[in-house]
Amino acid sequence: MTIPFLNPGAQTPPLRSELLAAMTSVLDRGHFILGPEVSALEQEVAAFCGAGHGIGVNSGSDALTLALKSLGIGPGDEVITTPFTYIAPAESILQVGAKPVFADIDPRLFTIDAADVARRITPRTRAILPVHLFGQAAPLAELIPLCERHGLEMVEDCAQAIGATWNGRGLAGFGRVGCLSFYPTKNLGADGDGGMMLTGDAALAKRLRMLRVHGIERRYHHDLHGYNSRLDEMQAAILRVKLPRLRAWNDRRAEIAARYTAGLAGLPVETPVVGPGNTHVWHVYAILSDRRDALQKHLESTGVPTLVYYPVPLHLQKCNADGGWKEGDFPVAEAVSRRIQPLPMYPELTDVQVDHVIAAIRSFFG
Ligand SMILES: Cc1ncc(COP(=O)(O)O)c(C=O)c1O
Repeated sequence: MTIPFLNPGAQTPPLRSELLAAMTSVLDRGHFILGPEVSALEQEVAAFCGAGHGIGVNSGSDALTLALKSLGIGPGDEVITTPFTYIAPAESILQVGAKPVFADIDPRLFTIDAADVARRITPRTRAILPVHLFGQAAPLAELIPLCERHGLEMVEDCAQAIGATWNGRGLAGFGRVGCLSFYPTKNLGADGDGGMMLTGDAALAKRLRMLRVHGIERRYHHDLHGYNSRLDEMQAAILRVKLPRLRAWNDRRAEIAARYTAGLAGLPVETPVVGPGNTHVWHVYAILSDRRDALQKHLESTGVPTLVYYPVPLHLQKCNADGGWKEGDFPVAEAVSRRIQPLPMYPELTDVQVDHVIAAIRSFFG
């Protein structure tokens, strides 16, 4: 048995006829960019997340950049974020001309450590950009009061956490802007690129809408310097077919996570922990092991090829070499990068496949 680590195509067969009908209607309408499908998706996703306004863009990365830009963050400003995530949040800070300031992470939750964030606030700090990593919230109980006390903006990176909640409320509704990615392997994945910004602030929503299309409100009248970051109708139509399934898909991910955790009990690995007040949508299920590299090789040899998120924390990435960071600056993120091992996680995994992964890990530890 070989178990694909990621399998975004697996959701197509049961949805094939609905997807084809949705795509055909876009072709027949002949309106391909920012049309009725995008408007409808924006409302549906905003309602799903419990956030006021949705603004579709062409990626989660652009959603972050436009969110920072819309808040007037730029040269001379510092934005505090995590070094243990995908590169996009740090890149978005650099792209608006601001400086990313990293804070270390929690060793079991993998999200940013609020106490370390507090230590890194300076007079130049304008915003905190927490990442709701792997499917659960960063420590909002501490981050929200920190922002209030210091007059900081918060931009939430919800790329991995659509549908997750903290204290019963959907993520993306706590900061000034919440940002989603519809990259195909995300919990709600397009069949191409896509992203969305969510905000409860109508004036900010208007500004974000202008920024995504060259700063226009009226065609050929450019009030702001903006971007070309439009969501296309085909992806929006596809996402509208998938969105009604998202809750069930997230529930299935939770079942798989529970099966892994029960199956791995008693082994010398650390299984994931859910933070206080969080519901988790299990974008990633990752264990920690002191023998990660050998475990990964063993898994591969038993038909379970894997990827490691994230093998190199952002402060040690080559592209950030001029940032002045060095090994040892964020010891928790560095240790987690050496020990973390994600396991296959998508709703179409069968119990038999999950049990195969568990058995492979058990056999490694004898
Ligand atoms: C945490 C996080 N933020 C941002 C992004 C960027 O999203 P996109 O690939 O849609 O640009 C991703 C993933 O791709 C992500 O995992």
